[in-house]
Amino acid sequence: MDTDAVLLKQAVAVLKKNDQKLYTSPAGNLYPHQWLWDSCFTAIGLRHCDVDRAQTELKSLLRGQWTNGMLPNMIFSEAVLYTQDRNVWRSHLSISAPDAVSTTGITQPPMLAEAIVRVGEKLKKAERRTWYASMYPALVSYHQWLYRERDPKQSGLTLQIHPYETGLDSTPPWLDQLHKHHRPWWASFLEATKLVNVVNLVRRDTRHVPPGQRMDNIDALLYYDVIRKIRSKHYEASRVLKKSQFAIQDVTFNSIFVRANDHLVAIAELLNRDIPEELMENIQKSRLALEQLWDSYSEQYYSKNFATSKLIRVPSIGTLMPLYAGSIPKERAEKLVAMLHKENMFDSAFPVASVPIGAKEFSELRYWQGPTWINANWLIADGLSRYGFNKEAKHIRDSSIELVRQSGCYEYFSAIDGTAAGAEDFSWTAALIIDFCANRKDR
Ligand code: GLC
Repeated sequence: MDTDAVLLKQAVAVLKKNDQKLYTSPAGNLYPHQWLWDSCFTAIGLRHCDVDRAQTELKSLLRGQWTNGMLPNMIFSEAVLYTQDRNVWRSHLSISAPDAVSTTGITQPPMLAEAIVRVGEKLKKAERRTWYASMYPALVSYHQWLYRERDPKQSGLTLQIHPYETGLDSTPPWLDQLHKHHRPWWASFLEATKLVNVVNLVRRDTRHVPPGQRMDNIDALLYYDVIRKIRSKHYEASRVLKKSQFAIQDVTFNSIFVRANDHLVAIAELLNRDIPEELMENIQKSRLALEQLWDSYSEQYYSKNFATSKLIRVPSIGTLMPLYAGSIPKERAEKLVAMLHKENMFDSAFPVASVPIGAKEFSELRYWQGPTWINANWLIADGLSRYGFNKEAKHIRDSSIELVRQSGCYEYFSAIDGTAAGAEDFSWTAALIIDFCANRKDR
């Protein structure tokens, strides 16, 4: 068996192990539920082995769709064991939440359109049409919700109300804003008395992964407190915004949205349908809107605080994500590529670090504060290829495959020496390695 074949066998076994029939959980006990962007990445890999199963993975996401169009970042397992997880969110508080399943009240980067199209590529034309037609109404209503509920200033940029919505949970720009705009009076008191450690009672992650790789207890508690606040407003952004400055137009989320809109337009074209006029106007606005996140002084993209309209000049991998959006001018894309080659930025032995390696916020094995993640690599490599930076795309793809070959399908890896970390047998790592290997064969 050649080495790619061995790797593929391992990756397929991980997806089988995490298969819950309707969906694939990200990783055993640590992540037992269905996550929105995880299922999308998983389907992108699954399509190479079992296109029906890939379709099921995406269709099952629609179980969680709210009547207002929102797709939640998590649909909870109904097992008694997870009552506590469901109770944190209490989605039934909102009249828009579905009855049949429990979900969170927030979303995650809108990867669904990309996954629908990738799965569609594996189908014959007539089947593809049927596939698209079955997903189109839900997709349109999700994108409409994002504009209606999350773009109140009609700027073309959507805002996020919890760091979990970005999928990059503990990324430094969000932690910075959390400390500036969501610091209740009791936080310092709890920290000083060590009472903060009560949060361990509800933290699942540190039971499975070394605490040094995850968020500090105080940050985890504040994240929980943000959930409590937005839950009390029944997850309605307009009500949350009345009292909070903790709302961010996140660069990663919005870059993914721009690309998702392009896919939505392509799907509508194939189906011969007209996208609703207002949605189309918003889509056009969004293509230019990433410009609002460009900082001409440091020549980087940043997320922006929605309430203060200030760019959050804290380094992270988000700065590279407009490559994936595909809507930025080539000169801008070149500047981003230069960062990939720059020592102390993203030029590490195993790209791409989730925080520039020379930044003071960089932490080698801590979650979204330094390690390299295969899904982020997939997004960046995909964007690079579309801009014609094939050498850089190949480097990221080959390095990702090498990481998994060395250590297995871990959740994340040190960008410096490739040490594996986080959960083992992680689904999107397995799925996207299958996709990377398939791409390698095509070239
Ligand atoms: C972590 C990641 C998030 C992912 C989830 C399930 O919370 O930060 O992006 O969706 O795990 O894998």
